[in-house]
Amino acid sequence: MRNKRHIYLDHGASTPVHPRVLEAMLPYWTEAYGNPSSSHQFGRTAENGIENARHEIAERMSAKANEIIFTGCGSESDNLALRGVMWAARLRAGAAQNHLIVSEIEHSAVLKTAVQMRDQLGFDVTILPVDSFGQIRLAELEAAIRPETVLISIMAANNEIGTLQPIMEIGEIARKHQVLFHTDAIQSAAVMRWNTSEMPIDLISFAPHKFYGPKGVGILYARDGIELLSNLTGGGQENGRRAGTSNVAFAVGASTAFSLAMDELEDRNAHYRQLRDQLIGGMLAAMPHDCVLTGHPTERLPHNASFAFRNVNGNDLLMHLDLAGVAASSGSACKVGDPKPSATLASLGLGDAWTRGGLRLTVGQQNQTDEIEYTIEIMPKIIAKLQQLQAAGN
Ligand SMILES: Cc1ncc(COP(=O)(O)O)c(C=O)c1O
Repeated sequence: MRNKRHIYLDHGASTPVHPRVLEAMLPYWTEAYGNPSSSHQFGRTAENGIENARHEIAERMSAKANEIIFTGCGSESDNLALRGVMWAARLRAGAAQNHLIVSEIEHSAVLKTAVQMRDQLGFDVTILPVDSFGQIRLAELEAAIRPETVLISIMAANNEIGTLQPIMEIGEIARKHQVLFHTDAIQSAAVMRWNTSEMPIDLISFAPHKFYGPKGVGILYARDGIELLSNLTGGGQENGRRAGTSNVAFAVGASTAFSLAMDELEDRNAHYRQLRDQLIGGMLAAMPHDCVLTGHPTERLPHNASFAFRNVNGNDLLMHLDLAGVAASSGSACKVGDPKPSATLASLGLGDAWTRGGLRLTVGQQNQTDEIEYTIEIMPKIIAKLQQLQAAGN
């Protein structure tokens, strides 16, 4: 029989929409439904909605309104940053400006885009390795920069293992060599402050559904003056950088969610940290030989506890947790069947016994201590059972 519990520990995948976010969005479907590009009063009301949202996000990041671009999702923000910058550079300077640097543990929205640009579009791409905690080495980054380098794209925090990258130092290296720096901040948007007037970062991607906003909208901050060739051509929306009728309700939802997150940042982070540390301490104590923490022990997202389990199939683990009422995710690319080893866990140097057994638990505002206690309590039994099955060849 299915367990009656509903414990959601997958906030790194998505979050519920905050009631105040929903409330702010509703009028833009039913009352202020005009197309913001239309010149009549209905259009102007909608335009006010999206432009106020843009201003609010910009203000929270010490940015200018024209530096905020609304897109359709976090992946699109990443795609626009990489392709937009690299294509614009190629048009300007040809092969003299052709080189892009990423890390090997970027989300596929960056990594696959970079690989496509290398293999199918003729760009030159360096993929940097990471250390056993998942951080790039700054000396390797600096050594990889060449006269043709246009852009460095390194994530602010990893989606699977939660490791934070030293983005301030990366940005300083980029500035020193007059190279642009994009960071995919989709996991960390709402757990840190963004002051673009002080941060040496030129492009930043956010996805509001990771911080109690709606799915279907992304944000790209692009510093004033950066040339971006649009990936989506058509109308002149978003200053000609992203065509398509603006999704006013979602932009309003994005700004409301971001403002709430910034207002409540310290309280939320304190809550997350307490639960995350309870999870990490409890799991490692319960299974000292079969469980390791993945990612950085201290430089990690406040809401991310990620592990690898010895000789365990991550898909089976997720299924057993789901049956026990706990929603989580693993690093595996496949949802069913025999999971491929996690490329991120392999990049950390973990061996075959561990790389199929990744587990990511990401806590949120609604989670409580008793849910964490329950999760820790059920794990050793599940792990022992899965190891037995694996040993028996099932
Ligand atoms: C680090 C990172 N980058 C990019 C994405 C893609 O975002 P979306 O699925 O909203 O397009 C995600 C989503 O999980 C992510 O965690």
